Amino acid sequence: MNRIEISICLGSSCFARGNQVIVHQIKEYLRKNNLEDRIFFKGAHCFNACKSGPTLKINEEFIYDISELNAIQHIIKALEDQNAG
Ligand code: FES
Repeated sequence: MNRIEISICLGSSCFARGNQVIVHQIKEYLRKNNLEDRIFFKGAHCFNACKSGPTLKINEEFIYDISELNAIQHIIKALEDQNAG
């Protein structure tokens, strides 16, 4: 099973929109659920979608307007898709 790759934009606009809270939230979620072997989580440079940030990229898909409310839901969906596929 391939690892899911998740990148979060660390650019200044996404920073101003609260990406650091989401970084912490995702790290904690991966750690508490022992998902570090299944998901590679990293920071990235600006994705050129600044007005729609914070921006997350899961494998090849960009996801915009990430928040504390939906970030983990997107990760769970990626895990479910991988299990199904
Ligand atoms: S700063 Fe995040 S997409 Fe540009």
